[in-house]
Amino acid sequence: MSVIRSQVLGCGAFLPAKILTNAELARTVDTSDEWIRARTGIERRHIAAKGETTSDLAFHAAQAALKNADVGVDELDLIIVATTTPDETFPSVATKIQARLGMTRGAAFDVQAVCSGFIYGLSVADNFIKAGQAKTVLLIGAETMSRLMDWNDRTTCVLFGDGAGAIVLRAGEGAGSAKDRGVLNTKLYSDGRLHDLLYVDGGPSTTGTTGFLRMQGKEVFKHAVINIADSILASAKEAGVDVAEIDWFVPHQANQRILDGTARRLHLPGERFISTIAEHGNTSAASVPLALAVAVADGRIKKGDLVLMEAMGGGLTWGAGLVRW
Ligand code: ACO
Repeated sequence: MSVIRSQVLGCGAFLPAKILTNAELARTVDTSDEWIRARTGIERRHIAAKGETTSDLAFHAAQAALKNADVGVDELDLIIVATTTPDETFPSVATKIQARLGMTRGAAFDVQAVCSGFIYGLSVADNFIKAGQAKTVLLIGAETMSRLMDWNDRTTCVLFGDGAGAIVLRAGEGAGSAKDRGVLNTKLYSDGRLHDLLYVDGGPSTTGTTGFLRMQGKEVFKHAVINIADSILASAKEAGVDVAEIDWFVPHQANQRILDGTARRLHLPGERFISTIAEHGNTSAASVPLALAVAVADGRIKKGDLVLMEAMGGGLTWGAGLVRW
């Protein structure tokens, strides 16, 4: 049986130049390098410069991904940007990238699922391709989470950072088995009743301001390990593969303890989980493609490898995507 598969042609990433270390943070907020490392694994994060926007980061990541994929702008049918920190309330970051890349056809829009945004975007891109509505898709995850921080709240401001990552997907042919190259499946979930665990206390139709990120860290942590492990199992089961056969797990980078807890729950070696948490912190929708770009560039993820991406974020939203690279 011949099926359409969304195959990854290339990836790229971009980080703002400014690095903020734990020690630097400890000079302005009541925290310490030891506390942050021990509880989260984070050592430093990148912070966008004044005037540097989400679309700036997204644009550079997009250029890197297109180059890596050897795909021209004129070949793109669709741009999807996963972000929760757009430059403006509207229009989308995606249309700004469309203009900046010089793309004069096709469509562009944003997807908002907070830290799960890239997984949601992957699912949307895959479904557009499978439906035949797009052949080549640029999918970007980009965030300036630093703009949503209450820099006096030590329980949140130490966790997040800024950055962007992107992949290029193109329709290819498969036989309908887990041996096919491309996206094998995506699993998406949400539970809107859990709003209060992680949200921003502002917005256009409430306060008229951007607001600050608020989080019940312990509760989010508990849901994360359970939901992420369940979505990994669901994705593997649907694809007919054993989790032990998966070469690489590329998780949303929220906390090293969540990554370790997930690996333990699934009886998997922690080394198979790509971690960039120490260098990047939590970059929300950008964290999965940033980690992908690192592991592809250093040769860990290779063509033909089975790669499981997963995330959980505000909403709550969560999900997983299984890809034969
Ligand atoms: N520095 C020093 N002390 C701190 C800090 C800090 N930055 N933050 C909190 N503390 C203190 C607390 O005030 C508390 O003190 P107390 O015992 O005197 O009351 C103590 O440390 C312990 O606080 P807890 O909240 O119990 O610490 P915990 O071990 O749960 O770690 C953390 C907190 C890191 C936030 C953890 O709960 C976590 O990672 N949760 C998941 C959060 C997450 O992943 N969010 C993002 C996922 S979704 C998304 O990305 C949008």
